[in-house]
Amino acid sequence: MAKIVRLPGLVDIHVHFRDPGETHKEDFYTGTLSALANGVTTVFDMPNNLTPVFTEEVLQNKITIARQKAVCDWGLYFGSTGDNLAEFAKVADKVVGLKVYLSLTTGKYVVGDEDKIKAIFASWPKEKVIVFHAEGDRVDLVIKYTEKFGNKVHITHVSTEADLEKIIAAKKNKLSITCDVTPHHLFLTEGDCPCNGETVPNLYFVKPPLASQKDQDFLWQNLTFIDCLSSDHAPHLMEEKQSSRPPAGLPGLDTLLPLMMTAVSQGRLSLNQLIQLTSVSPAKIFSLSQNDSTFVEVDPEEEYQIDNHKLLTKCGWSPFDDWLVKGKVKRVYLRGRKVFEKGQLLVDSGYGKNVI
Ligand code: NCD
Ligand code: ZN
Repeated sequence: MAKIVRLPGLVDIHVHFRDPGETHKEDFYTGTLSALANGVTTVFDMPNNLTPVFTEEVLQNKITIARQKAVCDWGLYFGSTGDNLAEFAKVADKVVGLKVYLSLTTGKYVVGDEDKIKAIFASWPKEKVIVFHAEGDRVDLVIKYTEKFGNKVHITHVSTEADLEKIIAAKKNKLSITCDVTPHHLFLTEGDCPCNGETVPNLYFVKPPLASQKDQDFLWQNLTFIDCLSSDHAPHLMEEKQSSRPPAGLPGLDTLLPLMMTAVSQGRLSLNQLIQLTSVSPAKIFSLSQNDSTFVEVDPEEEYQIDNHKLLTKCGWSPFDDWLVKGKVKRVYLRGRKVFEKGQLLVDSGYGKNVI
């Protein structure tokens, strides 16, 4: 009988459930189910829906949907392009943070104008997090204004040596800045992208793009400066990804924990580091109360093959299809209740609670 490992429930601070608007890709039920089955007991959903979460009314509607459908705990982000500052005071205590896009991605909600970026920093409450998608020179901007305005800032899905180096320097300067990386940037590189005989973009098209081996090595070598892991679970249908103009994004909730447990078994990080990255740090950054009765039981020895046909995400595919992983979720407890065992969900839609 293998020794079962108990982990605190994972917190994934970056997912896209497409609900409402594109529920053929994912919705709050299927998204939170794929989270829970894979040890993630809390998810924070991004605001780049078809109708972006830029007003209190749109937010309120999304809260109602999540409350009805979610099976794991959840929080929502508000979004801004700098044109909705008047909404901030109305929504700040209803969300886990603000998401701001400074580099191009799905939804095209990028803030280009520096005055608008400054206005966002000045207007969002200082004690609440702003999560930035920032690459290259946009990282310099974020650091500059974090220094000037003193906000609590988090840079998500850092993927290159150059960007992480800047963040490490800012941290050494005692700036209140944190960051996360995704498993796809830790396990895939630009060299892994089969281009179907054509040019990229292809199935592996994602923002930020998969980077070089050198970038990936730098992420692994500097895990101590990385605060969290996030899946950036960005479901799109396979047929969309295989079209001539594929949308950017990779699904990742089904594979985050097994990939990372595999890395633990290979000695690439310690179990304690994994717990810090997936639970302790995200809870600290977002001031979540941690609950001892929310935990995951994993068999660290059980090997299995990731299989597109067995995934719970509605989009039905993974960039890690066929990968052999080691570490299988056996049971999940959420707020004292056994919610998942032997492949079965044991609670109804709506069991998941808003963390706010
Ligand atoms: C995300 C999506 O599809 O919503 N896509 C992606 O490539 N990561 C958006 C994002 O997080 O940038
Ligand atoms: Zn994202």
